[in-house]
Amino acid sequence: MINSVPYDRLMFFKEQVGLDQKALDNLHRHANLFASHKEKFAAYFEKVFSNIGQTRPYLEVQDYPGQLQKVWMNWFARLFSSPIDQKFMDRMWKSGQTHVRINLDHRFVNLGYCLARGFCKDIVEKHVTPDERSSVDNAVEKLLDLCLLIETDAFVTSTFQCDSEVIKGITHQIRNPIMVIGASMMRLMRRDQVSHETASQTYETVLDESRRMEKMLSDVSIFNEIFHSTSQWSVSSLHEQLKRSVEECLKKKELKNLNLQMGFADADIEVLGNPREIHLLFKHLLENAFESVDLLNPVISIQTSLDPGTPRFALVEIFNTGKITNPEETETLFTPFYSTKATGTGMGLPIARAVVQKIKGKVSLQAIEDGVICFITLPRGDSRI
Ligand code: HEM
Repeated sequence: MINSVPYDRLMFFKEQVGLDQKALDNLHRHANLFASHKEKFAAYFEKVFSNIGQTRPYLEVQDYPGQLQKVWMNWFARLFSSPIDQKFMDRMWKSGQTHVRINLDHRFVNLGYCLARGFCKDIVEKHVTPDERSSVDNAVEKLLDLCLLIETDAFVTSTFQCDSEVIKGITHQIRNPIMVIGASMMRLMRRDQVSHETASQTYETVLDESRRMEKMLSDVSIFNEIFHSTSQWSVSSLHEQLKRSVEECLKKKELKNLNLQMGFADADIEVLGNPREIHLLFKHLLENAFESVDLLNPVISIQTSLDPGTPRFALVEIFNTGKITNPEETETLFTPFYSTKATGTGMGLPIARAVVQKIKGKVSLQAIEDGVICFITLPRGDSRI
């Protein structure tokens, strides 16, 4: 993804904001001064963003306490000494991509840059000699303008790329059923006499295809909503969520001789996130397990525990005795519209990934000798900072 950084366009921005060598020299001369405020800067950001309802969860859901503060600290520490080269652009670009992945409302990034300007202005006011102040202030403005332009470019490009992939996917996926429906109806129309059996077969084909499209459109709209919406987070019971989704799957698909095992951790675990989205996550992953399981030996097992790697996260393992066609390409299955099932929409796993990415969770598949395990990590609601 980092390969697609449009360096030429970003260099053009650099020229347009007027960040020339003179301005950079001004900043480099004071790089140590700014860097000596890195901890204060990170603490300031933490204070502001943990007091805003929509951004607080990002500070609560971290792999380890202080992870995000460290990101902000390092960003600030390097900012004033780095040359404006491809490495610099890669870093700023990646921040925009990451902000899209975690579904951060871009207005808060703008707010962050606004605060960073004020913070730097204060440093200059207090520590830079009056004759240099205005030129340093000016250089800081230009540098932050450039950073925000790069971040915003990456943010917009990433969002657009994702939307455009989905639109291309819909066009491609809808073409087939529409052609099947059209051809079936044409065949019917060309006949002088149509037997009841032929007509029934045609209606069935048309109905099957329209159901397929309906399901796909519903899944696409769920994916789109999750990808674009900033949702309210709260805690919900992991075990209740799983039980509910299992019951729904059992009602929907009857599997003869199903061996269903549920090995839940002794104490219930609370998970953090949007409860509706977590329900969608398990609904799609369990539907996937029910649809993929080996019908001659149908075993599905669901285990929960605290993630041994990061106990601030819960681990759910969903095993089924199905097979993956290409075990080396499990990641491909998370690409929208990629499905190995004739009736699949290819949106179930992308929906699951979109849900967990918002809350710093993870979802992956692993093919093992006798089946497939889906690993899901979710932030615990009962172990906040
Ligand atoms: C001036 C504003 C901001 C700057 C310069 C900035 C910068 C960055 C950078 C450099 C990264 C690392 C990107 C990567 O390597 O993947 C990052 C990641 C991230 N940012 Fe921002 N950010 C800003 C605002 C915010 C705000 C307001 C929030 C929400 C409170 C936020 C939340 C995050 C999160 C959750 C990550 C991922 C951290 C991780 O998993 O490592 N950022 N940001």
